[in-house]
Amino acid sequence: MRRSVLVIGMLVLGAAAAMAQEDLVKQDQAVMKANAKNLGAMVAMVKGEKPYDQATVDASLAVLQNTAKKLPTMFPDSIKGQNPDGDYHSSPKVWEDKAGFAAHIASFTKVVSDAKGKIRDLETLKAITPGIGKECGGCHETYRLKNS
Ligand code: HEC
Repeated sequence: MRRSVLVIGMLVLGAAAAMAQEDLVKQDQAVMKANAKNLGAMVAMVKGEKPYDQATVDASLAVLQNTAKKLPTMFPDSIKGQNPDGDYHSSPKVWEDKAGFAAHIASFTKVVSDAKGKIRDLETLKAITPGIGKECGGCHETYRLKNS
């Protein structure tokens, strides 16, 4: 009797831990979706789909900078191999090649902080935005996998 209570207790604890990890992955995905939304707002202006708006640029860059700050702690070992619903998941390389992943975080951080204050009009936006997009793509190329 006591034994089964213990077993049930352990099962419940295990499930709670798995859920917490799934939540972490979902948080990561929400951060990434916010990246896409905010970079997308800048790209829409580059393409002329939206008029240039400094407040939108500044707000978008602030979100990206916040992401840059979060990235180093967004992928703890506990979420390795976790893959809840979604279009993408992290490649095991995030954990197998920590130095490479950290290098991508560092260059993303640099490009985003360099952009801050430098984008003042459509011309500078057009010059700088593709470089930020390249940082996203550069990391995804190796560290993000599409769910099939
Ligand atoms: C240092 C690496 C890195 C950088 C830089 C980075 N990402 Fe990601 N991104 C990832 C990883 C890893 C995943 C997979 C996470 C997952 O889906 O669980 C991901 C997933 C995504 C997803 C899919 C989220 C989902 O629902 O599964 C989007 C959209 C995305 N990133 C957009 C961006 C944009 C836009 C930028 C640049 C502004 C960016 N990312 C910069 C590593 C990065």
